[in-house]
Amino acid sequence: MKICNFCMSLTIVLVMITNINMVVSKRHIPTTLDGPFKPVTRRFDSSLRRGSDDLPMTHPRLKMNVTLNFPEQIALAISSPTSMWISWITGKSQIGLNVTPLDPASIGSEVWYGKKSGKYTNVGKGDSLVYSQLYPFEGLLNYTSGIIHHVKLEGLEPGTRYYYKCGDSSIPAMSQENYFETFAKPSPKNYPARIAVIGDLGLTSNSSTTVDHLSYNDPSMILMIGDLTYANQYLTTGGKGASCFSCAFPDAPIRETYQPRWDGWGRFMQPLTSKVPMMVIEGNHEIEPQADGITFKSYLTRFAVPAEESGSKSNFFYSFDTGGIHFIMLGAYVDYNKTGAQFDWLKKDLQNVDRSVTPWLVATMHPPWYNSYASHYQEFECMRLEMEALLYQYRVDIIFNGHVHAYERMNRVYNYTLDPCGPIYITVGDGGNIEKVDVDHADEPGKCPSSGDNIPEFGGVCHSNFTFGPAKGNFCWKKQPEWSAFRESSFGHGILEVVNSTYALWTWHRNQDSYKENAVGDQIYIVRQPELCFKDSKLQDSQQSLPHSAASSHLSQDLSIIISQLIIGVLLIYGLYSHVNQIRFKD
Ligand SMILES: [Fe+2]
Repeated sequence: MKICNFCMSLTIVLVMITNINMVVSKRHIPTTLDGPFKPVTRRFDSSLRRGSDDLPMTHPRLKMNVTLNFPEQIALAISSPTSMWISWITGKSQIGLNVTPLDPASIGSEVWYGKKSGKYTNVGKGDSLVYSQLYPFEGLLNYTSGIIHHVKLEGLEPGTRYYYKCGDSSIPAMSQENYFETFAKPSPKNYPARIAVIGDLGLTSNSSTTVDHLSYNDPSMILMIGDLTYANQYLTTGGKGASCFSCAFPDAPIRETYQPRWDGWGRFMQPLTSKVPMMVIEGNHEIEPQADGITFKSYLTRFAVPAEESGSKSNFFYSFDTGGIHFIMLGAYVDYNKTGAQFDWLKKDLQNVDRSVTPWLVATMHPPWYNSYASHYQEFECMRLEMEALLYQYRVDIIFNGHVHAYERMNRVYNYTLDPCGPIYITVGDGGNIEKVDVDHADEPGKCPSSGDNIPEFGGVCHSNFTFGPAKGNFCWKKQPEWSAFRESSFGHGILEVVNSTYALWTWHRNQDSYKENAVGDQIYIVRQPELCFKDSKLQDSQQSLPHSAASSHLSQDLSIIISQLIIGVLLIYGLYSHVNQIRFKD
């Protein structure tokens, strides 16, 4: 009996220690104030696949499932706090040697909308257009799109749910009812609940896991950071066609894209984008050169962006506000030099930001400037040299990137030097496209790229050895760079939840954790420090703390973990006690 009591006591102590350890290790969320962090690498889990096949065009999520003239591929985009773009496509695209563009005037662009379901008190009207992707070369196919409609709904009330149908009522061919919610007006007290951040999504089995996972996370808006469909690789790496473009089409002077993938992608995204605005920026896979030197035709025609609304003359770069966040979408595949139109626009846009209204400043561009993977290493160094100082001067808080097919979160950095007022850079090019997840790091033996690698598809080449710091004299570091806080080769997406003008919770969700409650790949509070980083006293708003509600939500999760662990503990004790009694009885 004495042994039994000892066993029970030991078990209770062990269970309690386990509980405390699990709670402490599971629920502590670090903040950037705890940084700079010692670099951490979590390697690719070899039990997972590094890639997956493209979904076929016959897949139910890609197939056209409306009758002709009815809207499909419905998508929302923010225009301003009081206006929203609604876009959709009607009619059938064509692909073949000879294609005839549809007449955009043959079908109207109407949106009926109102604040009550089924009661549409307003009608918005807009424009429609088509585009063609032409390859007048032997063996290649031409494409012309369905009719692409864009309607801007204006005069909306902030923070309000609207129900809408789109289409042409004269046919009649209107969509089913959908709804969306406008964001609260710009203010340091108002923030979207959850902002999903995705890059390099594609249209594979992995892409569908990513989209299902982020839909489950119930985003309020989506930042789509370039390389959307990979339509330019479907005929080779993605489809069942050629193993390589040059061997299948040796005489083709241009690489053919398979534009129907864009239509499949629009259908694939519609369940999400018809309710949640998606803000896009171009990646290299959107360039899609065609005859006569025309590029970016699909990207520019399909997506409405608030360029004009933000004083930009180009859909390749623009800005917008959602609550107390000012977003700047930068183009890496158009002129980014100090002498160019984009830089000039960026300067004016930054000057016009009122941080007392929108304290948070978030920028995105497709390729990362800070990247320790071998893939795309130093590829956009020229862009960094042109623009980094300006973004630093205006104290941009976070910069999201894609392009590299893996995850990486940086320590606060400026000019390759740890800096408490530098932005937090985060790479999320891990959406799950047809190319495999990147696993090699430039700092590993034999993995440092040569100067001939990673040539950008636009702009100059500025590869150079470091002239200062721990890697001085070398092109690559000998270990994970100090500015790289955490990196992991895995597919996933991120969610940004801005809590107040000081705190924002960033969570990276890995695809393999889709079915695990409360599992996160990486999580951190990004904390602004205006008192430290702004010389202008007007912008030195006082530091806010993490509100009680955020802290208590973590506490309730902690309690649920404690209770569940205690139940397991009691069961273990009961089992051990029964076992001991059985032994005694046998004896
Ligand atoms: Fe890319």
